Amino acid sequence: MIDGKTVLFSGMQATGSVLQLGNYLGALKNWVTLSKEYESFFSVVDLHSITIRQEAAALRSGARNILMLYIAAGLDPEKACIYYQSHVPAHSELAWILNCFTYMGELNRMTQFKDKSAKHEANLNAGLYTYPILQAADILLYQADLVPIGKDQKQHIELCRDIAQRFNAIYGDVFTVPEAYFGKAGAKIQSLQEPEKKMSKSDENINASIFLMDDRDTIIRKFKKAVTDNFAEIKYDPENQPGISNLLDIYTLFSGKSIEETVAHFQGGGYGDFKLAVGEAVADGLKPLQERYNELKADKEYIDKIIKNNAEKASYVANKTLRKVKKKIGFPELIR
Ligand code: TRP
Repeated sequence: MIDGKTVLFSGMQATGSVLQLGNYLGALKNWVTLSKEYESFFSVVDLHSITIRQEAAALRSGARNILMLYIAAGLDPEKACIYYQSHVPAHSELAWILNCFTYMGELNRMTQFKDKSAKHEANLNAGLYTYPILQAADILLYQADLVPIGKDQKQHIELCRDIAQRFNAIYGDVFTVPEAYFGKAGAKIQSLQEPEKKMSKSDENINASIFLMDDRDTIIRKFKKAVTDNFAEIKYDPENQPGISNLLDIYTLFSGKSIEETVAHFQGGGYGDFKLAVGEAVADGLKPLQERYNELKADKEYIDKIIKNNAEKASYVANKTLRKVKKKIGFPELIR
């Protein structure tokens, strides 16, 4: 809580490539709705990005693209605090402190660490291991009550809660203990090429993902190529027909129609016509976001101002928590 208001915090990684449809439907779209109700902080978590080797220019442009997409998707940067994690040194500082309040046994249990370390054997750095501690620092600095995330982040939020409770038990009520918030629809968008797998912006097959800035023809072409099945029946059955079910999910999220209505509407038709309709609905649905993004991209001054103002706003809140933490721990007071 800040000044009696419920606080929401979330973040996305800047990985050099632009966001894909799953990030939009699973996260951004929900953030826009939630930000109307809560005091919100949305960070571009570039400190997290370097747990995997990044090319400098790509990281810089990728981070800025994501920040602009947050706004293009409908977040109001005058209301929600949209900022780069690396602009607020308090994140790194609190992360170090929380390192000393987290057990290796806890980190060893993190399934994301296990997955990532298998994938990045050649660069098994300590940051990959302590990643969830930095995430806990992100959340706790802002006294966040709610953290909208995908299911894959559930374990990290549980760890964050454990760390906060442990700290509070020693030093008194310093941190708000946050809760994970799972959006209803759209939290799970699957790959168009391997529908049993989550759509991921790092997928090597470019036809597997729809990127938010893909043009209309590209979007329609990717949907036409989407992998389905040979049941020749449009039916919502994620278990046996994951491809068609994923397309139905995507279509309903853009058309606002229910799965039942959609199934009834396309019943008896071929997969080809249905895929085309999904592609068109997505292309139409993304058009306003794409137009807004291009406007923002052309207005460097405006974006720079947003970045500066919000870094100040975030720092103000974060530093307040950090000062309290340092005092409780017993670090000598800074004499000004
Ligand atoms: N780890 C999150 C992810 O990969 C990103 C993230 C970093 C985050 N810090 C956060 C999400 C704080 C919520 C709150 O999706």
